[in-house]
Amino acid sequence: MPREWNARSYDSLPLPHQHWGTRVLEQVTLTGAEHVLDAGAGTGRDTAALLERLPRGRVTAVDASDRMLEVLQEKINDPRLDSYKHDLTQPLHLPSLVDACISIATFHWIADHEVLFANIADAMRPGGQFVAECGGSGNVARVDAAVAATLGDRQDGAVWHFADEGDTRSRLEAAGFTDIQVRLRPDPAKLEEGEQFEAFLATVILGGHLLKLDESEHEGFVKEVAARIGEPVVDYVRLEFNARKA
Ligand SMILES: C[S@@+](CC[C@H](N)C(=O)[O-])C[C@H]1O[C@@H](n2cnc3c(N)ncnc32)[C@H](O)[C@@H]1O
Repeated sequence: MPREWNARSYDSLPLPHQHWGTRVLEQVTLTGAEHVLDAGAGTGRDTAALLERLPRGRVTAVDASDRMLEVLQEKINDPRLDSYKHDLTQPLHLPSLVDACISIATFHWIADHEVLFANIADAMRPGGQFVAECGGSGNVARVDAAVAATLGDRQDGAVWHFADEGDTRSRLEAAGFTDIQVRLRPDPAKLEEGEQFEAFLATVILGGHLLKLDESEHEGFVKEVAARIGEPVVDYVRLEFNARKA
């Protein structure tokens, strides 16, 4: 079950997601008239950038978080945009097939990539481009170790799903994609020690863990994880892929 996000705090942070979004968008080939799906659009940064490149096209932006969508809808009021709440583990049922799909920093929050990719493939026209990135194998290993040391026996189940290149290629093929390129990219992000690093951890990374803890424990948990990580660097490893619907 997807969880809620603190969208206002999210938007106030120095997010490496901005570079990740730019990298994804650079790979999408558009004439300006396409219909593009932003899967896990969050607060709409890349949705807005897509609309700029689609003067005669349109964007469908979906996300499972009401709070993220509320901010997206406050920021973007455009007749070329259709945005609504949707859990990507469920079929999309769009009124027409999309010409392309992008996704940034979302898929590692979803356990079943077979189902996820099949749902996206069903929403795309043949030949459509699918460009996405998310946390990949080895992502935030130092954060994971700090969380494990902090929680000890209380750690309960996986929060993230960091896929590797081989599994991702097979799952994309099985869902009906071709011309597949997949790679892992180490991409550490440096933050300011103290408040900024702790806010980043709490808002962007540890939300799934915080859900499982009593609210009275949140602040102490985040501080302890930050202290165990030491240098305020998040050891991101991105899984990037580009494919075409067969
Ligand atoms: C780190 S944010 C990324 C948002 C945006 N793409 C960006 O780069 O800023 C991850 C997003 O994935 C969304 N998400 C997680 N699981 C989802 C699911 N099953 N279906 C749809 N969205 C989901 C969350 O609600 C959140 O907005």
